[in-house]
Amino acid sequence: MSDDASRLWGGRFDGSPAEAFDALNDSLPVDRRLWREDILGSRAHARMLGARGIIPAEDAAAIDAGLAQVEAELASGEFAFQPGDEDIHTAVERRLTEIAGDAGRRLHTGRSRNDQVITDTLLWLRGRCDAQALALKALAQALIAQARAGLDTLMPGYTHLQRAQPVRLAHHLLAYAWMLDRDHRRLAFARESAGQSPLGSGALAGSGFAVDRDMTATELGFDGITPNSMDAVGSRDALVDYLAFAAQLGVHLSRLGAEFVWWSSEEAGFVVLDDAYASGSSMLPQKKNPDAAELARAKASRLTADLSGLLGTLSGLPLAYNKDLQDDKHYLFDAADTIDLLLPAMTGMVATARFDADAMAAAAEQGFLAATDLADALVRQGWPFRKAHEAVGALVKACSERGVGLSGANDADLAAVGLGDVEMPDLTALASVEAKDVPGGTARARVMAQIDDIEQRVEAW
Ligand code: ARG
Repeated sequence: MSDDASRLWGGRFDGSPAEAFDALNDSLPVDRRLWREDILGSRAHARMLGARGIIPAEDAAAIDAGLAQVEAELASGEFAFQPGDEDIHTAVERRLTEIAGDAGRRLHTGRSRNDQVITDTLLWLRGRCDAQALALKALAQALIAQARAGLDTLMPGYTHLQRAQPVRLAHHLLAYAWMLDRDHRRLAFARESAGQSPLGSGALAGSGFAVDRDMTATELGFDGITPNSMDAVGSRDALVDYLAFAAQLGVHLSRLGAEFVWWSSEEAGFVVLDDAYASGSSMLPQKKNPDAAELARAKASRLTADLSGLLGTLSGLPLAYNKDLQDDKHYLFDAADTIDLLLPAMTGMVATARFDADAMAAAAEQGFLAATDLADALVRQGWPFRKAHEAVGALVKACSERGVGLSGANDADLAAVGLGDVEMPDLTALASVEAKDVPGGTARARVMAQIDDIEQRVEAW
């Protein structure tokens, strides 16, 4: 049995909680990182209680001063957590009461830990969203800078990981910048979801005192107040919205990581990663492993699990607050910490990567990447596309049997597939990319327009 002298809810209990129960129930190890937000929320609540005459003005002042001291102790690390501190809210209030006595015991007037914890969590989430928007911007800018540098680098574009058609390196990298643009919108949405103050919702039915909810909301920087107290304390939608952002971003970074893993392989040889973003092997002296990219590839699993974990926790929960909700922070913090690790590492990896333009260009010229361009040329000469596709397919077969690419086709090959009197077009990779001159295509002018467009958007994030 543990010491329960400082418990907040001991009144109706005869015995102390079992240690095994405390170990399961205590959330301090997870939620202690909410201390700044907890103190901000409590100071706002206490000032409002004083301003409204719900508690005496001198008690409100004593609470404010006491909380300033608690904050200083937490910031300096001298705050001593006690065995009965089951969560950060309990710890702060316990210490405040030690400092301010009965005034401290008035802090929780008209408030419940249920509206307190979600208020703290939303405040924390809004702060992380702001910081991560900047980190996301840095990654998008790194991609755009590499895209500018790679405007005239041609490479094979793939489907099924088979060389399909030539593209500009810029086009390939910008695909990821556009993904991040959508991720940024999801992040902004999560921040907006976290924008209504739940404070004043009480345990579930609303506060029993004439609290000024707008006053605390404004002081805490919220955009407004929640309209339904049960929804306010029983829902975690803003966390789900954030986790959905994180999961989708995780999937995008995983795919980007996968590209870099294989682009940096000896088989592809398209990119050399900076030593600062790679590591060696303890046994194989020649190895330089793309660990940052591999870890980015792996983290999507963790991020999607966090989203799925919280959704699972929420499913089937009757209103309003249930202790199940205490687990929300596990998922939220894990995802936010993972994104905090990933974004700067991916930004550095992308910014310092050295692309091998010659290796990419050589791969884009080899083989049959111009097959569709040849079929398109036949169509322009009056052939129905399906017939053109058939004839070029037969030519590809004949050339690959002879071990040559499309540019190695001779008169006999052409005649054998009915292309004897066809005027052969320019089958270079450059001609191929320039032919894709549609909005969103890989022709130079289109990619330049894309760069301008995405750059302007990212600037405004
Ligand atoms: N530690 C709790 C949590 O994170 C605080 C709310 C406790 N509320 C309650 N009714 N026991 O959810």
